[in-house]
Amino acid sequence: MWGNHNGGMEPTSQIIVALDYDNRAAAQDIVDELGDRCHFYKVGLELLTAAGPEFIKHLVARGKEVFLDLKLFEIPNSVAGAVRAAGALGVSMVTVHSMGGTGIMAAAVDAARDFPALRVLALTVVTSMTDSDLVDIGIGDGEGDGVSTESQVLRLARLAEQAGCHGVIASPQEVQALRGRLGGDALVVTPGVALPGDSPGEHARPGTPRAAIAAGASHVVIGRAVTRAMDPVSAFLRVYGDLQL
Ligand code: C5P
Repeated sequence: MWGNHNGGMEPTSQIIVALDYDNRAAAQDIVDELGDRCHFYKVGLELLTAAGPEFIKHLVARGKEVFLDLKLFEIPNSVAGAVRAAGALGVSMVTVHSMGGTGIMAAAVDAARDFPALRVLALTVVTSMTDSDLVDIGIGDGEGDGVSTESQVLRLARLAEQAGCHGVIASPQEVQALRGRLGGDALVVTPGVALPGDSPGEHARPGTPRAAIAAGASHVVIGRAVTRAMDPVSAFLRVYGDLQL
């Protein structure tokens, strides 16, 4: 069923390479090396802070799509301002923390309306958080009826949908459950995917790009497995080939 959701989307539009670098030159090198093969890049707080917005404008001017991973968690007025600034750079995706509540998500969505190509994606529970981290911050009481990270992810994803967000960020473990609960148009962007192995059986292994897309992801984000590979082009082509199978 979810194959329809992605029907016709070229693998190059589905693969987002994360440029987690502390300087522009290193990011530029990998963009040059991947060339026309890679169409979509994620820029996070590290590169944005180190290299500034000019590099993002440069990527957009070169015809690349940019996912600006701002992970916004601020008062609604400030979130709206940051989303407008992202939209003015020409980026395609920006992230907001759903844990900040409906107000900031709705402010982000509202601010994005002036930029028709801009999609607001909600982060749910940060993947490094455990059930006991949720108890520590007061979600669940730790007395046997604590909230699991999975149920918290689903709850926040529904909240994000109600607030008008265009999609969510989801780990490979969460994709299927989220796709089953969100509308068919929702974007489900999945980081934390592994480079596929070379044997055919390996491609269906949970956590590969192919498995994530099959489970309902609209996009996969891959970082160091490509950018820090001895041969980034062949690493990228393995991801591409995995999605073409
Ligand atoms: O691990 P990798 O280098 O592929 O990470 C690429 C991007 O995916 C990072 O910029 C990070 O924001 C995101 N990520 C994540 N959760 C993970 C792994 C990566 O959100 N478990």
